[in-house]
Amino acid sequence: MQNTQSVRTDQDVWAAIDLETGRQEDQLELIASENHTSQEVMAAMGSSLTNKYAEGYPGRRYYGGCEHVDTVENLARERAKQLFNAGYANVQAHSGTQANMGAMMAIAEPGDKVLAMSLDHGGHLSHGHPKNFSGIFYDFHAYGVDRDTQRIDMDVVRARAKEVQPKVLLAGASAYSRKIDFAAFADIAKEVGATLMVDMAHIAGLVAGGQHESPVPHADIVTMTTHKTLRGPRGGMVVTNDLEILKKLNTAIFPGGQGGPLMHVIAAKAVALREALDPSFKEYAARVVANASVLAETLMGRGLRIVSGGTDNHLMLVDVNSIGVSGAEAENCLHALDITCNKNLIPYDERPPMEASGIRLGTAAITTRGLGQDDMVVLGGLIADALENRADKSVAARVKGAVAELTRSNPIYGH
Ligand SMILES: Cc1ncc(COP(=O)(O)O)c(C=O)c1O
Repeated sequence: MQNTQSVRTDQDVWAAIDLETGRQEDQLELIASENHTSQEVMAAMGSSLTNKYAEGYPGRRYYGGCEHVDTVENLARERAKQLFNAGYANVQAHSGTQANMGAMMAIAEPGDKVLAMSLDHGGHLSHGHPKNFSGIFYDFHAYGVDRDTQRIDMDVVRARAKEVQPKVLLAGASAYSRKIDFAAFADIAKEVGATLMVDMAHIAGLVAGGQHESPVPHADIVTMTTHKTLRGPRGGMVVTNDLEILKKLNTAIFPGGQGGPLMHVIAAKAVALREALDPSFKEYAARVVANASVLAETLMGRGLRIVSGGTDNHLMLVDVNSIGVSGAEAENCLHALDITCNKNLIPYDERPPMEASGIRLGTAAITTRGLGQDDMVVLGGLIADALENRADKSVAARVKGAVAELTRSNPIYGH
């Protein structure tokens, strides 16, 4: 049997893949939505399952020869249910956006009102961007964060919900560093007769690892991505405790929004879910949160404002405008020194999105490769040094050298 390591005739593609592997090894990945999967997760993705068509669900497929992929999908479903203590799981969504599309199709009709976190305050494109399916097919309304605390104010959410009377209340974000009170969201949904949908894409691994309250007991439906803090392959997943919603969801995912499932990715999801069920994953999730907290404290100690004054989870929004730099400048400056992150709007930002006043930093990937709290103190200092001395080549050289030391002493795959 050939494997992907021994079959390498396409030099053009493999050269680029090797360079990317090297880039990941040599750079510190602070993009909050990324992580480094295990080699076993990658091996499952590179397996023979990529060849298989399996439209339908285990035991009810539109193609023959599905007995083994049925085993794999059942394993993934059972593990997802166990990990998140949920009654039902659909593991077929190709991405987080498609998980959200499936969920929305299961609980709302086109044109229905949805109340979700404003994209400018940390929400996601699939929560109502006018060019995304969500904004095109549903009537989205927004709640934001408080101007002073920069946190979600549940009284404001309640008032907005009463005013809008949404069919769906949607909680979850891409750039929000504080705990989300899912029980309070559930109360508000009940008060206004809305269905509560939670998109826990970013924090799924923290929920799995016991570092964030689970939305599963509170929400009617919970969507997620598998590739962020959960540390699996790129993909989406949905869980619910409501059998009627599950039935609609299954039809909404297939044939509603997708064709044949990516069985190789579902196998990789199953592997990642097993890893997340291991007690060591709880320690990992705790380290991710502790690292983020120390990194935020260190940056604040150097005079950088952190949106909302800190973080409870794996990410933080750094207001680089507070030292006179735009998010785009900060992203470029750090990238040149092998620290990867993304520019990000901060709440009530006065700069346009392509410039932005913030950068979003996350600790999921660097924690996977072994960095700890002492390293966060060093890293925070390096980031502040680099941003404060952008024109100073000697500072840049020193920072780059120190980053190389951190990456070399914490290899991802030991290449
Ligand atoms: C909250 C949230 N939902 C959904 C998604 C979409 O995931 P995908 O890129 O897999 O479509 C993201 C991705 O960043 C996200 O942050």
